[in-house]
Amino acid sequence: MNILVTGGAGYIGSHTCKYIAQRGHRVVTYDNLETGHREMVRFGSFEYGDIRDYARLRQVIATHKPDAVIHFASRISVGESVTDPGLYYDTNVAGSLTIMRVLRDEGVRPLVVSGSAAVYGASTEGVTSEEAPLAPINPYGRTKLILEWMLADFAKAYGLPWMALRYFNAAGADSEGEIGEWHEPETHLIPNILRALFTKKPFFLFGTDYPTPDGTCIRDYIHVQDLAAAHVLAVQHLLHGAANQSINLGTGQGTSIREIVTAVQAVTGKQVPYEVKARREGDPARLVAYAARAKECLGWEPKASSISNIIETAWLWEQKRLRRDACSLPLS
Ligand code: UFG
Repeated sequence: MNILVTGGAGYIGSHTCKYIAQRGHRVVTYDNLETGHREMVRFGSFEYGDIRDYARLRQVIATHKPDAVIHFASRISVGESVTDPGLYYDTNVAGSLTIMRVLRDEGVRPLVVSGSAAVYGASTEGVTSEEAPLAPINPYGRTKLILEWMLADFAKAYGLPWMALRYFNAAGADSEGEIGEWHEPETHLIPNILRALFTKKPFFLFGTDYPTPDGTCIRDYIHVQDLAAAHVLAVQHLLHGAANQSINLGTGQGTSIREIVTAVQAVTGKQVPYEVKARREGDPARLVAYAARAKECLGWEPKASSISNIIETAWLWEQKRLRRDACSLPLS
């Protein structure tokens, strides 16, 4: 196969490029490097460009003639989407629309997109299936829901094959330590805890008064290599005529922030410094996947998503990256 990956210089995109290349397929990254890193593009070729740039993207698709497109390029911070929603509608909605228009005009082919569990509303118990009400509580989630609506409309009108993979909490890093999570600023829980170990400055624990057993938010952490595998399966299934659909990617297991802190201490042997802060705006108390559809429709099951493996791989990467930063060296 030959796959074009938008956002291939980013976190989940780069791991997916590695996964594709390791299986002997061709991969092309399309990225504007606004939040992605050129050093993460180590697998396949690179085309610089913005997803909102119709002419450039069309030229790249015409040149490489990919069999399918996997679309990761997005803005991803819930908090930032509340304070600057224009950015989110521009990249996540207008950018995604441009990709669909290019595929309509250059020849439709399967499009697998980064969806999000943020399309669901706030839940306090149980697991969330794809049939749960779609009622996002922040602009980020709304942009991901609009993306799914656009896909359905383009499928009906122009025959675009698609799948939206609704991730729960992407975490962990490449088991070989070659690539990993690298956001500036970092907002995610596990890298922030690991950075606190390195810098010895406390990480902020947002909210201990949630209606959960230990008062902290519960999430379903899914290893980035498991996410990468699911995207390739989705492409393969679409190329074989699978139905267009949205699919949850999670483990079905919820872990609280306090449980993550305990697990980090067990893996690293270090005490985590933290300060309790007020709740962060836009955070649901609990988000855990009902993940049966991924198994039924894609034959996908998480293999690398134990909390200990997530933390071990993230720690391997984070130490390498932070040491590199401290010495101003390139990543080897
Ligand atoms: N948290 C902290 N301190 C930090 C960072 C996070 O206490 O420094 C807390 C958050 O408040 C939240 C939990 O840890 O309760 C998880 O937060 P993350 O930022 O790691 O992840 P989110 O659940 O907010 O977001 C993730 C993805 C989004 C996606 C969302 C689905 O990053 O893209 O899941 O709800 F939309």
